[in-house]
Amino acid sequence: MRVFSSHKELLKSIDSDKLLGLVPTMGSLHQGHLSLINRSIVENAQTIITIYVNPTQFNDKNDLNKYPRNLKNDLDKLKHFKNIFIYTPQDKDLYKKVEPKKYDLDDLDKILEGRYRPGHFNGVATIVEKFFRLFNPNNAYFGEKDFQQLTIIKTMVKKMNLNINIVACETVREINGLAMSSRNSHMSKEEIQNAGMVTNIMIKAREIYNKTEVIPNSLKNEINNLKNCRLEYFEIENLSKYSGCIEDDGNRIFIAFWVGKIRIIDNIKLK
Ligand code: PAF
Repeated sequence: MRVFSSHKELLKSIDSDKLLGLVPTMGSLHQGHLSLINRSIVENAQTIITIYVNPTQFNDKNDLNKYPRNLKNDLDKLKHFKNIFIYTPQDKDLYKKVEPKKYDLDDLDKILEGRYRPGHFNGVATIVEKFFRLFNPNNAYFGEKDFQQLTIIKTMVKKMNLNINIVACETVREINGLAMSSRNSHMSKEEIQNAGMVTNIMIKAREIYNKTEVIPNSLKNEINNLKNCRLEYFEIENLSKYSGCIEDDGNRIFIAFWVGKIRIIDNIKLK
């Protein structure tokens, strides 16, 4: 493992004749990240892992300030991996001015998360495009937990004709079903338990939908009845409806809810 805060220095260590994988993260690494990293290591001779809390994708300053940061722990989790390069930049190594670029994302940025976090996906596209242009990886790895983000990145890559293979990796879950997320580290045991129950409700909804093509409102209400839980949205969407750039992957349930002060998103494929 080698750690760099300058992309110029990091690039000097990359062998351009060998396959390069990129795993962008915002740190506070968990098993979900480690599964992306393991996959990249298997599929590429070299892997760059970025650890950078990108300010342009936070529409709420408070959320940016509160976002968990654990660089020392993160490096500890990565120290046994071979052929990895870790990029932990400061803003100035990436941005002349810390501002998002404006993208045409085929309205994929207007639905679901986009409605609740205006500007968020432009910020994500801005930083991911920067990483892609700086490092020019062969493969880049993203989790399906952020399925809308994954779809948006695929759309951006297609529109910009970037020659990068976007690899979608399955969501990794806690034993109780809750999707792994850096934000889970801020939750109490009870909150994790309740958030896991929401996953079970989502799975129950999938079973019912696959038989009847409807999801009863009573199931959605069950979420609001859990202690300290508040449902923000529970929608069925087929994202390929919005973008001509991605394959039709069918319908999914997309969900966002609060457990105490933590906002959680998840999704699950239907049929
Ligand atoms: O999914 C994330 O952690 C972030 O949105 C990403 C892709 C690393 C960009 O900052």
